[in-house]
Amino acid sequence: MSQPRHFLDIDQIDGAALRGILDEAKARKAARAGQAKGLTDQDLPLAGKILAMVFIQPSTRTRVSFDVGMRQLGGETIVLNSDDLQLDRGETMADTGRVLSRYVDAIMLRTKSHEMLSELVAHATVPVINGLTDASHPCQLMADVMTLEEHRGAADGQVVAWAGDGNNVATSWIHGAAQFGYELRLACPEPLHPSERAVRWARNNGAAITVTESVEEAVAGADCVVSDAWVSMHDEDSADRHNMLAPYQVNEQLMAHAKNDAVFMHCLPAHRGEEVTAGIIDGPRSLAWDEAENRLHAQKGILTWCLG
Ligand code: CP
Ligand code: NVA
Repeated sequence: MSQPRHFLDIDQIDGAALRGILDEAKARKAARAGQAKGLTDQDLPLAGKILAMVFIQPSTRTRVSFDVGMRQLGGETIVLNSDDLQLDRGETMADTGRVLSRYVDAIMLRTKSHEMLSELVAHATVPVINGLTDASHPCQLMADVMTLEEHRGAADGQVVAWAGDGNNVATSWIHGAAQFGYELRLACPEPLHPSERAVRWARNNGAAITVTESVEEAVAGADCVVSDAWVSMHDEDSADRHNMLAPYQVNEQLMAHAKNDAVFMHCLPAHRGEEVTAGIIDGPRSLAWDEAENRLHAQKGILTWCLG
């Protein structure tokens, strides 16, 4: 039996397939331009298909964009929050995956433990989509590259600076540097440096990656500056963490080091006054709202690739 097409991480998918997903997302976005929200697409490649979405942790964008995307493609969804399932009463993710695979055509999982995703994948017989773990957020990266390219042209050759925690979203940006060709400079406090494994993989696959503690150095001449929450869903909040990350805030002074027309990106949810000032995220350089919209279009590229 052939293996299902899982969408698990940007480093595990062929570069041409990733580009195909983005092309599909862009084409579907263009085809819908001018239509009212909620209308179903003309062609319905996922008619009769059902996606189960399992949320061990909360979500606004991932939940709604997958749900709407699936419906626009003619399919349906079942949303399962962790307390809707038997997981809290000791049923394993392995058994949950075995059983869900008998009912639905694909499973999306958001969880704080990447091991839980791996356990699901090992036992599911339908495609599994990583809707964020403590280790990565590949669906977000697809929407982010789509947004960057809409505003600044091909990702290849651009300079992207990451400011803050070397977290799950940073890991997907690192993987993306090898797949999409942008130079990536990550400025993170030493205890919050990004995954060495991801950096090694990306460099071995041709990516230009710098990891530094100097945020001004990272941002100097950048085309795009990216930040994310200082405290991710899987992290313990602490005053130490905030103090460590405070110098990495994206504000007007920091953006002055980037190119004059540099853009700012953030996957949301944002914390104004922490990782970014209101002036930047709500200002003219911010692409945050286009990124959020593009989650919908990118999910449709991912869904049609997994289920096509
Ligand atoms: N960016 C993102 O994944 O948002 P949600 O947590 O709301 O899904
Ligand atoms: N790094 C954040 C991203 C949220 C979409 C988190 O994991 O909470």
